[in-house]
Amino acid sequence: RRRKATRNCILLTGLCDSGKTLIFSQLIYKKFVHTHTSIKENIGSYIVNNNYLKIVDTPGHERLREKFVEQYKELTRGIVFVVDSLTIQQDVRDTAEFLYNVLADPIISKNAPNILILCNKQDQTLSKGSNAVKSILEKELNTLCITKSSQLDSVDPKAKKLVNLGSGDKDLSFSTMHFKIDFAESFAFNKNGSVNIEELEKWLVKIT
Ligand code: GTP
Ligand code: MG
Repeated sequence: RRRKATRNCILLTGLCDSGKTLIFSQLIYKKFVHTHTSIKENIGSYIVNNNYLKIVDTPGHERLREKFVEQYKELTRGIVFVVDSLTIQQDVRDTAEFLYNVLADPIISKNAPNILILCNKQDQTLSKGSNAVKSILEKELNTLCITKSSQLDSVDPKAKKLVNLGSGDKDLSFSTMHFKIDFAESFAFNKNGSVNIEELEKWLVKIT
């Protein structure tokens, strides 16, 4: 009997400049690299307890990001949604919209991969901690949910079908979604050259 295909991809996604490629480099090669805006994915292997994970760092550019999620979503065991914790307040609209589109994708919703919202750039003194990022995102997702649910019935045949994330009249909250959503903090770089991606590494062990 053929073995059931295992979903072993871990997608690094999130807006441009949130730090995905640097995190990827620190995770896979344990080193700092000077990065540029990604236009294609980086793939690396990561072994946890003899299990192979395929780490895929995807571009955050708004014209590319959905396409890469699309390409890998069937094989995804976990999604690391990287947030720039310094600019989250200014970028909350765009961030929440992208997160919404990822979570409400019918295939992703059906497979319900583990989700980690990784609040990066914690080395910056003015960055928001993970609890603050969580409530900022929750509030914005809730607003989006209300607008999107009215669009669900839209008759535009080209519009991508999305699953409704909210549960009726209750406020949307990460704890009541049918996904397992964790929050963690990291920094992939600071002035002294130190790095902290420990919570990400622990999460990878947890979901493997
Ligand atoms: P796209 O490929 O455009 O989607 O961006 P990305 O998410 O891959 O971001 P990238 O890793 O290229 O990092 C963007 C910039 O942020 C680079 O200058 C990084 O050196 C910097 N950076 C990444 N992580 C951190 C961090 O934790 N702290 C600080 N201070 N800078 C960081
Ligand atoms: Mg990149």
